[in-house]
Amino acid sequence: MEKIRILGSPDRPLRGQVTISGAKNAVLPAIAASLLTQDEIHLTNIPLVKDVFTILTLMSELGAEYKINGNCLTIAIRNVLCHEASYQLVRAMRASILVLGPLLARHGKAVVALPGGCAIGSRPIDLHLHGLEKLGANFTLEHGYIKAEAKKLRGAVIEFDKKTVGGTENLVMAATLAQGETILKNCAQEPEVTNLCELLIKMGAKIDGVGEEIMRIKGVSELGGTIHDIIPDRIEAGTFLVAGALTKGDIYLNRVRPDHMTTTIEKLRYSGAKVEEIGRDCLRVQGSEEIKPQDIITSPYPGFPTDMQAQFMVLMTQANGTSIITETIFDRRFLHVNELLRLGANIEVHGDKAIIKGKTPLSGAETTATDLRASACLVLAGLIAKGETIINDVEHLDRGYERIEDKLKQLGASIERITTEKEEKR
Ligand code: UD1
Repeated sequence: MEKIRILGSPDRPLRGQVTISGAKNAVLPAIAASLLTQDEIHLTNIPLVKDVFTILTLMSELGAEYKINGNCLTIAIRNVLCHEASYQLVRAMRASILVLGPLLARHGKAVVALPGGCAIGSRPIDLHLHGLEKLGANFTLEHGYIKAEAKKLRGAVIEFDKKTVGGTENLVMAATLAQGETILKNCAQEPEVTNLCELLIKMGAKIDGVGEEIMRIKGVSELGGTIHDIIPDRIEAGTFLVAGALTKGDIYLNRVRPDHMTTTIEKLRYSGAKVEEIGRDCLRVQGSEEIKPQDIITSPYPGFPTDMQAQFMVLMTQANGTSIITETIFDRRFLHVNELLRLGANIEVHGDKAIIKGKTPLSGAETTATDLRASACLVLAGLIAKGETIINDVEHLDRGYERIEDKLKQLGASIERITTEKEEKR
């Protein structure tokens, strides 16, 4: 068992430079897209995070061969050997359902475990299934698995009832090899969806309206190999921006896409931090002595990302006054609140709203991470909490952050990863 130990202090500004990794949420669909061709796909700037290794395990089971060289991945599936995503893998990582659309399109069948509940809400996949049904797929549910079949997918007009990132990605991938034209309405516009579409176009797909709410996809008979660069992780970058603001530090973030982070940057500036764009792909954040309270409502891109909500909550515990966060994307996404309360925060949750009263000094404690972004919020809180903070269940953090403790240490944080054995010797 691994844990993170942080020796925090309200007076230890983080300073220096950090390089942001490729986006976890962009690389996962890109890897799933390799199912759409027999040729090799080369992905550059991949983050070496646990979710990437989980999807690669799944891809190997499906028949893929791959190699990783630094942050480059070469993957090819000459023959699909199996068409099943097991419960163990889907449970470990919900994004495993991204193989459903490509498997149906290339192989005509797929068996994928139904994800079930997860720490941040029920997260159904009905919109994925309704869309694929409109393309001609048939589904049955047996023993917790969705069995999907389609002789040949056919283009259709599909309007999502609600914006869904994974749903849009699954449908756009399936539509690339469907017969005729597919029109997708009310698509998610996240940069990760755009990054996937750009990859598909390089593979030979015909997609109009990339990055817009309506996309038109003209099905082609086959797709080929290509090289594709994964965009920088806007959530990892946002987490480091909050770290700079929270610790009143001065951090340069290299290899970022500021244009993907406008709402996050706007909110940080409003809180009092100075955020500057230095050149095309670098940001500098300088924290201010006074942090201003503010209200935040999460919403689909380009709105404020739900994946930044927990990190901003920590910042608000240090604001002078009351802030309200309204979470509109996921139910039960306030599980980190109980852990923050243990560190001394003053937060009340009423339905989809968290009311944060600042400024409260935080004091270190043993905590347990409940999900990926909740773990990031505990790391941030640990940086400014007086004394020792231990974060258990660090595997959540490893799902989406590449070497976060090394990156923070480089900026001056006192943070280390410990194993249970080492902990016992203390
Ligand atoms: C993706 C991101 C996740 C992010 C989320 C919202 C990946 C791997 N994960 O998750 O980090 O927090 O977008 O930005 O990219 N919904 C339905 N039915 C469906 C699908 C979704 O009701 O069939 C609902 C969900 O329960 C949620 C909302 O739609 O309330 C948005 O979910 P969605 O955008 O699909 O999230 P994910 O793709 O799972």
